[in-house]
Amino acid sequence: MAYETINVDVTENVATITLDRPDALNALNQKLLGEVCTALEDADSNDKVRCIIITGSSKAFAAGADITEMANQSFVDMFMRDFFTAETKRFNNTRKPIIAAVAGYALGGGCELAMMCDFIIAGDNAKFGQPEINLGVIAGIGGTQRLTRFVGKSKAMDMHLTGRFMDAEEAERSGLVSRVVPVKKLMDEARAAAVKIGEKSQIATIAAKDAVNRSYETTLAEGINYERRLFQSLFATEDQSEGMAAFQEKREAQFRDK
Ligand code: HXC
Repeated sequence: MAYETINVDVTENVATITLDRPDALNALNQKLLGEVCTALEDADSNDKVRCIIITGSSKAFAAGADITEMANQSFVDMFMRDFFTAETKRFNNTRKPIIAAVAGYALGGGCELAMMCDFIIAGDNAKFGQPEINLGVIAGIGGTQRLTRFVGKSKAMDMHLTGRFMDAEEAERSGLVSRVVPVKKLMDEARAAAVKIGEKSQIATIAAKDAVNRSYETTLAEGINYERRLFQSLFATEDQSEGMAAFQEKREAQFRDK
């Protein structure tokens, strides 16, 4: 499929979606977010793909929602169009794991997009921020909620109220990103993680993602109950038998997603 604002590559079971609006530091407009969602849906339904990476350029993952597109909108425009809501719902329907490989700026909607992925690997030049306050608005696709869950109230308030940026080292220390690597190695590291995920049983992978995401939506007791049921149900799969037999026989498991 031909896209205008992203590039998509599928190599060795990994789909890589690269945001590609260099003149606007990959600012998210309706076109770009819609194309990302379509690419995610394609990857989710492509049996060959087992993990997805979303990345940008070495200067910017994405510098936020496109200010040019938003500047002249009225409340009624935003409200009636329910700006970006349909896209975020489509994004969050993705069942396969999504890694955000972030170099450079991940600001505003860019930071929010990275946080919608399942985990973030950052290049050492990454800068995260929610600077919407400088534009007279606030985050609009989950930033106040997700950043607070990632880094806690105090740091989230600091970021949203002052609009300051967090560097990669601080982002790792605060739990926003899972690991930081030299920016030149970012894609190698993300790809290696994606390939490793792709070697697992996809049934267990999807269950793990589902269970971790459930922890954001429910109480601890309900979440543990949900996890227990998923755990038990995996004993109906051939992959569980194979995984445990392979351990006992001291060999690599050959998962078949059955
Ligand atoms: C539109 C953008 C943009 C954005 C950068 N550009 N960010 N265009 N929307 N969010 C454009 C610039 O206008 C410029 O275009 C080109 O990209 C290069 O940017 P520069 O500013 O010249 O680069 P630099 O000096 O290196 O500064 C980089 C920067 C700065 C610090 C990232 O661009 C910046 O502060 N951008 C805005 C960040 C921001 O406020 N994000 C939050 C957006 S609101 P020209 O044509 O002049 O060369 C948001 C809400 C989300 O995200 C919720 C939605 C529902």
